[in-house]
Formats: sequence, C-alpha cells, structure tokens
Amino acid sequence: MIILKLPEEVQHWALNTKRRGQRIAFVPTMGALHEGHLSLLREGRRLGDKLAMSIFVNPLQFGPAEDFEKYPRDEPGDLKKAQTCGVDVIFAPSAKDIYPGGFQTAVAVQQLSMPLCGAGRPGHFQGVATVVLKLFNIVQPDIALFGEKDYQQLKVIQKMVRDLNLPIQIKPMPIVREKDGLAMSSRNTHLSPEERKAALAIPTALQKAKGLATAGETDPKTILNAVVATLTESKKIAIDYVSLCDPETLEELKVLQRPALLAIACFVGKTRLIDNCLLK
Ligand code: PAJ
Repeated sequence: MIILKLPEEVQHWALNTKRRGQRIAFVPTMGALHEGHLSLLREGRRLGDKLAMSIFVNPLQFGPAEDFEKYPRDEPGDLKKAQTCGVDVIFAPSAKDIYPGGFQTAVAVQQLSMPLCGAGRPGHFQGVATVVLKLFNIVQPDIALFGEKDYQQLKVIQKMVRDLNLPIQIKPMPIVREKDGLAMSSRNTHLSPEERKAALAIPTALQKAKGLATAGETDPKTILNAVVATLTESKKIAIDYVSLCDPETLEELKVLQRPALLAIACFVGKTRLIDNCLLK
C-alpha cells in the first residue's frame, strides 16, 4: 500500500495504471474509518484491478458553525484498516494542496442540493460536489463507491456524473449498521453513553415507518407523525428534519407512492446524525 500526498503523484499513478489497461476503483472518505467505509473498500477491491481511497476532511463542506475542527481523525488506525481491505493507494492530501491560494471554482448540483440536509447546511453539497469532482480528476477512477447512508450525497454525485458526462460508474452501497441498528458513522464516537442509547430512536423510528407502510398506510402525515413521536420520546433528540420524499427528485410526497425515501436528520446532544430507508 502506498500513501501519496500530492495530486500530481496520484495522477501519475493513475495514468500508469490506465496505460496497463487496469481498472481503478475508488472510495473517497474523510477518514475515521468504520465498518461502513470498509464495506465500500471490500467491494471496491472486488470490482477494480487497483483500489484507491482518499482521506481528506474537506473544509469546503463544513459550515462556519459546524464540526470541522472536531471531526474525528485517526490516520494510524485508518492506514491499518485500509491495509486489511487491500487498498493499493491512499491519497491523503493537505488542504493547501487541494485548495491552493486563489482557488475559486465550484460545482453546484442545483435542485438536488436544496432540500433535506441542503436546507440546514447551505453550501454543503457544493463543497461535496466540488471536492469529489477534484478527487475524480486526480484519481481518474473507472468506478467509485458511495454509501446510501448519505443518500442525498449519493444522488448529488450521480447527477453530477450524468450532467457532466464523467466516464465513471457510481456504485451505491447499502447502509452498514451496528448490531442494535444504529447506522455506523464517524460522528458516533462523539456520543456519550446516554446519547448513544437515545440515538437508537432513529432506527426504531425507521422500523416503525416500515411497519406502517407494509400494513398499507398511504398517508405521509400518519407515517411522519409516528416517526416524530418515536424520535421525541427522548429529550436528548432535537429533530432537524423528517421527510418522506421521492427517492430520485427528493421532493416531498403528498401521497405515499412506492418506493418512497424516509430521511431523518437530528441532533443527539450536539452530534448531528442522519439515517434513511426506502419504504417499498
Ligand atoms: P465519509 O463520511 O467519510 O463517508 C465516506 C463514504 O462512506 C461515503 O460514501 C458514505 O456514504 C460511506 N458511509 C459512511 N457511513 C456508512 C455506513 N454506515 N454504511 C455504508 N456506507 C457508509 O461522505 C463523505 O465522507 C464525504 O462527504 C466525501 C464523499 C468523502 C467528500 O468529502
């Protein structure tokens, strides 16, 4: 496994790999790797001749009041985990190599970036799309893997790839959960033991909604009310949004058509967690 810091070094590696006719699979991350990330790496290992991953906590996708400074970082642990998954190249750049002085270009995927997380985090998806396009241009993958845990991010990237004719296949990957159902997230490490318990209301609420939909409920209000009631049973949870929306456009649904996306974002203490499921 090699660790490269400079964009030019990675571009050089990518060029040589492609000259040999080998396919590059790529997993972009912000590090603090957990089983969710590792599931993407293992599938990438299977799909590509070479497997690249990036570790870069992207300042552009954090708002001024958000947790950029506090975002968990664990480079030695990440390197060990990456090695067990058969990663060939880790790209771990510095912020100044990604955004040198005078950097002024941005990629905006307009409508898809507006609802859900985009409403409370203005500029977030522009930051994501911009860094992911840069990473794609540096790593030049044939295939890139993204988790459905960040469902809106996945849709934004798929749209960017289509809109800009990028020759890259995007592979969506299912949400990996802890045994008790909580979706794995680097931010879970911020939860106190009480908050960790309270956070279980999120997967419980998703399950409740699934149950209602399976039983034939078609009124979004009934489902949303049940979700909100489950989440707010705990005083430690403050809801950011709960939305039942079209899984492609992310527009709110007036009647439950299938499949529908149920997306949740809430603060558990100071930690913002997101989760989602499809109601089929
Ligand atoms: P990060 O939060 O580190 O996530 C990297 C990838 O891992 C994303 O595709 C995310 O959806 C996936 N992932 C995270 N938790 C998961 C889980 N429990 N199950 C399955 N997949 C999971 O997402 C980012 O980084 C950044 O926004 C990035 C795309 C790297 C751009 O900066």
